[in-house]
Amino acid sequence: MRVASITPSSNALAALITSEINPQTTPVIELGPGTGVFTRALLARGVPPERLLLVERGAEFATMLEQRFPGVGVLAMDASDLGRVELFDGEPAKAVISGLPFLSMPTRQIMGVLDGCFAHLDQDGMFYQFTYGARCPVPRIILERLGLKAVRIGRTFSNFPPAAVYRIRRRPMRRLYAVGS
Ligand SMILES: C[S@@+](CC[C@H](N)C(=O)[O-])C[C@H]1O[C@@H](n2cnc3c(N)ncnc32)[C@H](O)[C@@H]1O
Repeated sequence: MRVASITPSSNALAALITSEINPQTTPVIELGPGTGVFTRALLARGVPPERLLLVERGAEFATMLEQRFPGVGVLAMDASDLGRVELFDGEPAKAVISGLPFLSMPTRQIMGVLDGCFAHLDQDGMFYQFTYGARCPVPRIILERLGLKAVRIGRTFSNFPPAAVYRIRRRPMRRLYAVGS
């Protein structure tokens, strides 16, 4: 129940959720890596280990990740508390890859996760979330309250259950033009 999935994600879902990541879109934060299926895909895309940080609440998973991925930072903590800690010596992150089970998390906790992560992301930073559901797993009210916009970037049937990935980013700010200028 705490993990909220019967099996780890497939390589197809790992390829989809990391498809926009490259060595330039770092540092990267990964939430809820579990056994590290997405972590492996991120490293294969050229993310240097020291530019990747894993945030995993399960103590056993966190210990296993440290052993499995030498050089990658691991924080054993709840992702909804991320807003309270400093990461990458204050350098803004470019992307967050989330394996968190949003569909089984309370709205308040999802809000905490997104609020904390966007405090660490740079202005154009992206947050990637997968879901087994038919729509974005972040309730619309949270997206509106935090000024965010979600777009589905793909779906894979080579995963059990089939899954979709959403890219969530800040809404562009409206330009204000002074009258007469
Ligand atoms: C559904 S599993 C996904 C694991 C892996 N990313 C995958 O796709 O196979 C969810 C993972 O998120 C972790 N998790 C759940 N809630 C969390 C939270 N609030 N903060 C950090 N990790 C959490 C669980 O311990 C588990 O490892």
